[in-house]
Amino acid sequence: MTARPRVRVPRGGLLVPAFAKINLGLEVLGLRPDGYHELRSLFQTIDLHDDIVIRPRPRTLEVRCDHPAVPRDERNLALRAALELRRHAGIERGAEIAITKRIPVGGGLGGGSSDAAAVLMALDRQWGLGLGPAGLHGLARRLGADVPFFLLGGTALGVARGDEVYPLRRQVRGHVVLVDPGRPISTAAVFARVDQSLTERQNSHTIFRFVSSDLEGLRAFSILTNELEEAALEEAPELAGQVRRIRGILVGEGAVLASLSGSGSSFFGLYDDGRRARRAHAALAAAGFRVLRARLVSLQQYRASWARALGASGVVRGSNQSRSGHHGDHRRQGHPGGGRKAQGLRVDRV
Ligand code: C5P
Repeated sequence: MTARPRVRVPRGGLLVPAFAKINLGLEVLGLRPDGYHELRSLFQTIDLHDDIVIRPRPRTLEVRCDHPAVPRDERNLALRAALELRRHAGIERGAEIAITKRIPVGGGLGGGSSDAAAVLMALDRQWGLGLGPAGLHGLARRLGADVPFFLLGGTALGVARGDEVYPLRRQVRGHVVLVDPGRPISTAAVFARVDQSLTERQNSHTIFRFVSSDLEGLRAFSILTNELEEAALEEAPELAGQVRRIRGILVGEGAVLASLSGSGSSFFGLYDDGRRARRAHAALAAAGFRVLRARLVSLQQYRASWARALGASGVVRGSNQSRSGHHGDHRRQGHPGGGRKAQGLRVDRV
């Protein structure tokens, strides 16, 4: 990967990270009367993140982004989040929201939803509204089904549309290798394809078995599946061959779970051992895939990262803060774990 651009934060501004998620498991239970799908989703934040800089403005709300595929108008979920929050609070404050994109767009990693949640949290602080995650939840779920999860982070169970989210007492830690096939897939199109097969199959209840097991050992992960994978590969049939190769390499290097994330197109492998993850990363890169390495971010780490970003006063002091480095060097990049030694796949109780 190339070196990251420096992110400058002006006096009175805020720099907040917006972490990506993967779905360790995803089950589709049925179609709801509102047209959405009833889901069970095992969400997990990872330390791949966009950077968002918020600068105060008297009245105007605007979004800038360094990625050409990200719209700047009201199709942008981060801008909609700011507009909705301002309407909700009945105030006339403004902000400039500058997004440095690192999370692949249309990759099933929740980048747009995470940006929106980060904007809600940061503007809540900057505008002194005092709503907090609980007070922002209603706004978040109106913005999108994945947005409420990012008010929480860590390892969490999402039910209903995936927007009713519960932290798991057991937080998973470990390493992840992500492959971005570079072909965005539309979530709505994947769900529309799922409808065609919904009546034909039984619900699998693997997530229930996973959360109710004691998670001793790593075998628990191997029961998890993503029920959107088949529909995603119908939607993007040209990826089927790639996915077979990717999964083969990930599993061959010892992944305890290898799966599509969300509705795709990112594919990931989960590892208990940083060396295996590095080997998988190298093997995939040698095979010509665009690949990233990341670590899982637990609920505690997510909260600590937010506390650091917003600070006691909510304002970053000093004129400049910079972040640089490439993915895979988490110490330099300010991993929420704070430069601790690489640990295996672990389960911590909250
Ligand atoms: O909520 P969000 O806009 O992120 O969802 C994108 C699309 O995914 C929705 O328009 C809908 O078609 C589909 N979806 C669904 N059921 C869910 C979540 C998303 O059908 N629980």
